[in-house]
Amino acid sequence: MTVYGSFPGARPRRLRVSPAVRRMVAETRLHPADLILPAFVREGASEPVPLAAMPGVVQHSLDTLRKAAVEAVEAGVSGIMLFGVPDDAKKDAVGTAGTDPAGILQIALRAVRDEVGDELVVMSDLCLDEYTDHGHCGVLDAEGRVDNDATLERYAEMAQVQADAGAHMVGASGMMDGQVGVVRDALDTIGREDVSILAYTAKYSSAFYGPFREAVGSSLKGDRKTYQQDPANAREALRELALDLEEGADIVMVKPAGPYLDILAAIAAEVAVPVSAYQISGEYAMVEAAAERGWIDRDAAIMETLTGIKRAGASTILTYWATEVAQKLRAAR
Ligand code: PBG
Repeated sequence: MTVYGSFPGARPRRLRVSPAVRRMVAETRLHPADLILPAFVREGASEPVPLAAMPGVVQHSLDTLRKAAVEAVEAGVSGIMLFGVPDDAKKDAVGTAGTDPAGILQIALRAVRDEVGDELVVMSDLCLDEYTDHGHCGVLDAEGRVDNDATLERYAEMAQVQADAGAHMVGASGMMDGQVGVVRDALDTIGREDVSILAYTAKYSSAFYGPFREAVGSSLKGDRKTYQQDPANAREALRELALDLEEGADIVMVKPAGPYLDILAAIAAEVAVPVSAYQISGEYAMVEAAAERGWIDRDAAIMETLTGIKRAGASTILTYWATEVAQKLRAAR
């Protein structure tokens, strides 16, 4: 046998030689408790409504939402993030349904707490876009611009109403300046120091939210570029991080996940609080669509995306595949 020079000098392939060795040396392991299930619940629905752009995801009825919550518990998922889908007729300029104790999200929070108690961390989306007729995450001023400080007042009220309805944790997702501090104060004012805040710290203005807009029946015209971050910027995420921590964020999140793994890694390297990532609707849709056409191996692709997100530094991941993946992880050794 001819050996050319002295290479290879080392053989990293030895540690890839069999499933057993690969399993032994794997640096990143997914666990069911890493996963949080986002779920939509539609006002007045008696049957779940499938979403065309998110095959396998539905707008739940209260009944199927309860079942989904129980399934998530059984699979070992650690949390559920609820999004309300109100009747179109209930939407208005200030998102009144979002602060109505009888609004769909509040009803859903009560139903899920009633069903699973403290077995899941029950979380609520704290944002106005599901409830406004213009589809923006805040209220508008006379010129039609999103009014930051007027919106904060609405968020404060939302936080209190969601806590009253049973949220263990609120997800401040609107990207208004000062939102975490205002929500913290609002909760503390009503004696709910126990309710924690998941801050959407680095939330980018992303094309991958597309299917979500169908999921919540959003009527947004235009875009969210005056409040969500520009995909071109990384430093800005560190500034948002510093502010959120100062304002009292308990967990910080990066969203979307896949296209922003650099941001996730940078934040995870810096903080002493848990870091979450949201694998959003468009990331879900891409994999499902390609798999449906037979272009990729669906299950392997799902695991790879989640492993990548965890490897980049996420302690928890919001994903529409949470229950399915948790079940698979449980079945695997
Ligand atoms: C805001 C919110 C959005 C998502 C979660 N919370 C939409 C947006 O900011 O436009 C998107 C989630 C997804 O796309 O899966 N209420």
